[in-house]
Amino acid sequence: MKDYFGYTDKVCVVTGASSGMGEATAKTLVDMGAKVYALDLNPCPVEGITRFIKCNLAKKEEIDEAFKNIPEHIDSFFGIAGLSGSKTDYRTTFDCNYTANMYITLNYLKQRMTKGCSIVYCTSTAGLEWKKFKKEQNKVVHAKTWDDVEKLTKKLAMSAPATFAYMYSKRCLSQFACEQAVEFAKLGIRINNVLPASTDTGMKQEFQDMIGSEEALIAQTGLAGRLATPEEMAYPMIFLNSDMASFVSGLDMVVDYTDTCLKTLGLKKNLEAVSATNPIICALAKKMMSKYSTKALNPASDSKK
Ligand SMILES: NC(=O)c1ccc[n+]([C@@H]2O[C@H](COP(=O)([O-])OP(=O)(O)OC[C@H]3O[C@@H](n4cnc5c(N)ncnc54)[C@H](O)[C@@H]3O)[C@@H](O)[C@H]2O)c1
Repeated sequence: MKDYFGYTDKVCVVTGASSGMGEATAKTLVDMGAKVYALDLNPCPVEGITRFIKCNLAKKEEIDEAFKNIPEHIDSFFGIAGLSGSKTDYRTTFDCNYTANMYITLNYLKQRMTKGCSIVYCTSTAGLEWKKFKKEQNKVVHAKTWDDVEKLTKKLAMSAPATFAYMYSKRCLSQFACEQAVEFAKLGIRINNVLPASTDTGMKQEFQDMIGSEEALIAQTGLAGRLATPEEMAYPMIFLNSDMASFVSGLDMVVDYTDTCLKTLGLKKNLEAVSATNPIICALAKKMMSKYSTKALNPASDSKK
């Protein structure tokens, strides 16, 4: 059978390959004949990968070490690793979700990719409103070094709740992808984003805790009436990086079973249309979050009042 997707023997780097969407992506790519280099903090359970490289993507030095073990030519990159911010601090969350992808793209992929190669980032529907908030992202997205991004986000990292790093990092990544798709198109390299809706992965529990219950999380999925499976996000990413999508670049592919349509048509409230950096909103959110976590740790504290 003709290999329409064209993954046979292709060098594919997958971050976050040890769980959820990244794991499903790595497994499918192995089945399609690719040579998979899996990067993650935790061991990768996928059989048949070419190499697992333990790497904390929130650390520049660990990324540099990891890329010493990756071939000089990379065909496709899948930037999937991510953190919700509910268990990590702002800095770690932002750097894993945004800075790592920026750094890898500009310092390794640009040098190791040639015409016909492809990049996909996993952002989120939480970053859907990036076009509306470009002013908030511009400086960070235009910074070209790890240190500059850290400097520009230092204040935010001290004042905003870590869960705000999620929305902001995803917005920055969507904008970065759009801008770099234009630059990389001149080299014949494609860049696209997949923006997943709620998916049943390792991260599900964290989103569930933030929203209150599993029922509330499912209710938010709109007409789907269920969370997506990890494969339902992996397959669109694999498609976008494949030969089948050779004329697709610069796309924000929203994978949400019409949820964005509902918002566009005014049939559902758009809760994502808020600032991710406004100091008053950040301070209020931080106060609310700390009240919520105190309550969660000590439920009796409220009833005593
Ligand atoms: N699950 C959802 O509802 C949802 C919705 C929208 C977007 N996303 C995005 O999907 C992507 C994949 O997440 P998932 O849902 O499969 O969750 P997951 O928790 O199952 O997988 C995330 C993977 O990233 C790895 N990882 C986390 N921090 C890392 C670090 N610092 N260095 C290296 N690896 C690290 C984890 O070990 C894990 O294997 C993330 O970017 C996430 O933001 C998820």
